[in-house]
Amino acid sequence: MSGPSQRRRVLVLLFLVWVASCTVVVSESEQGFFALPPLPPPHEYGEVVIDQATREAGEDAVVFSHWSHRALYTCRVCHFELPFAMQANGSGISEEAHRSGHFCAACHDGETAFGHTRKNCSKCHTGGRADKEKSFKKFRESLNLPKGDYGNKIDWVDAERRGLIEPQKSILEPDFEPIPYDQEFEVPAAWSMISPAQFSHDEHMQWLECSNCHPDIFAIEKKGTQHFLMKHILDDKFCGACHMKVAFPIDDCKGCHPSMKY
Ligand code: HEC
Ligand code: HEC
Ligand code: HEC
Ligand code: HEC
Ligand code: HEC
Ligand code: HEC
Repeated sequence: MSGPSQRRRVLVLLFLVWVASCTVVVSESEQGFFALPPLPPPHEYGEVVIDQATREAGEDAVVFSHWSHRALYTCRVCHFELPFAMQANGSGISEEAHRSGHFCAACHDGETAFGHTRKNCSKCHTGGRADKEKSFKKFRESLNLPKGDYGNKIDWVDAERRGLIEPQKSILEPDFEPIPYDQEFEVPAAWSMISPAQFSHDEHMQWLECSNCHPDIFAIEKKGTQHFLMKHILDDKFCGACHMKVAFPIDDCKGCHPSMKY
């Protein structure tokens, strides 16, 4: 009875059940198969509350917006040339450092941007989220920025490519050009039914420095970083270090898995 043809039929059946279960997983995933954190409104995506030193000093907390700054400067300016950590409250910013022209005051000097003066304390020390919905809308519309679906709902890559924004790549070297590194690769997913994720070094080098990713986020040796599973990415690791907080968020499955349906 249990001849080869029946065994094959059982195998085909098992295979079909497996395919079906994978399809269910993929189609359900958007509705919470992965527990994605709720997204804030577009003007608050990438907003960082910096409140460690101010809490100790009894001063109002500072709220920093990435959207207004990343339109003018690439990530590498603040996270490579200037000593800002990619971590809320990670930089150890102090009033004394500001008075000597470091951190925010590297630019907020009264020339490049409004200065570190008495009249301006409350522009940074807003105490909580300042409502920037209107200024954000004005910013997006006046530059006619291309729409994205998630996060700031701005397609930053397209905006930069089309020259609608020209974020400075360096504030220290006027002629700076990023190291050309046009290596692209696919990251195969641990599940064979999932289309691989795409990664382009060159696209990232428009914004970042090698050391923003190597060796802290990704070990550099070949196949060094084994399987960046989505559960780790959702825990702010690997791709999630940026794509959970400032770069287009994980909700944008197609942004990384171009052959996915949504
Ligand atoms: C360009 C933005 C900016 C401006 C303008 C600014 N600050 Fe700050 N300030 C910060 C940031 C960021 C921190 C770090 C916040 C934290 O860690 O809680 C900070 C921290 C502080 C702290 C706590 C740290 C410490 O060393 O005691 C005090 C006090 C302070 N600022 C006072 C002032 C005063 C007074 C003014 C106006 C003369 C001012 N700040 C203007 C951004 C600014
Ligand atoms: C003008 C300066 C500036 C630019 C440009 C900038 N950042 Fe930041 N970033 C900051 C500051 C300030 C913080 C908060 C640091 C702290 O609290 O100590 C921060 C924090 C972060 C964090 C941690 C956020 C959190 O909630 O923990 C990430 C991730 C990040 N930046 C990524 C980026 C990326 C990606 C870019 C480029 C698209 C970028 N940043 C551009 C200044 C900047
Ligand atoms: C690399 C330069 C640079 C650094 C570093 C920088 N800024 Fe700015 N910032 C600017 C420029 C340029 C503008 C726009 C011109 C202006 O408003 O004077 C701006 C505008 C702002 C604004 C008004 C727009 C908005 O987002 O609401 C705030 C508030 C602000 N910065 C806070 C900060 C704080 C807080 C820090 C440090 C944690 C910081 N900036 C670090 C260059 C910088
Ligand atoms: C946005 C983050 C990011 C930046 C910026 C970045 N890399 Fe990478 N890099 C990666 C990732 C992700 C991998 C794959 C890691 C793995 O598979 O373990 C990788 C792998 C590599 C590898 C191994 C390639 C292979 O074939 O196995 C080298 C070499 C490398 N990067 C060099 C660089 C250099 C040089 C720069 C600057 C010019 C740079 N990277 C900038 C994310 C980055
Ligand atoms: C910022 C890039 C990025 C985004 C956005 C992204 N992924 Fe992934 N995803 C990856 C990478 C990288 C892998 C490869 C991990 C590995 O080695 O298995 C992966 C793997 C997967 C896997 C294989 C199993 C696992 O847990 O690793 C599934 C399923 C998956 N992604 C679904 C999704 C869905 C659904 C979305 C949208 C909600 C999404 N991904 C958004 C980068 C991304
Ligand atoms: C250090 C920060 C950082 C890390 C880590 C990072 N990215 Fe990005 N990525 C960015 C920024 C910034 C952009 C520009 C677009 C934006 O901000 O929305 C970007 C853009 C992209 C794009 C769009 C490029 C295009 O051509 O349209 C893809 C795809 C992407 N990332 C995939 C990945 C994957 C997959 C990983 C993990 C293997 C990863 N990224 C890790 C910061 C990062």
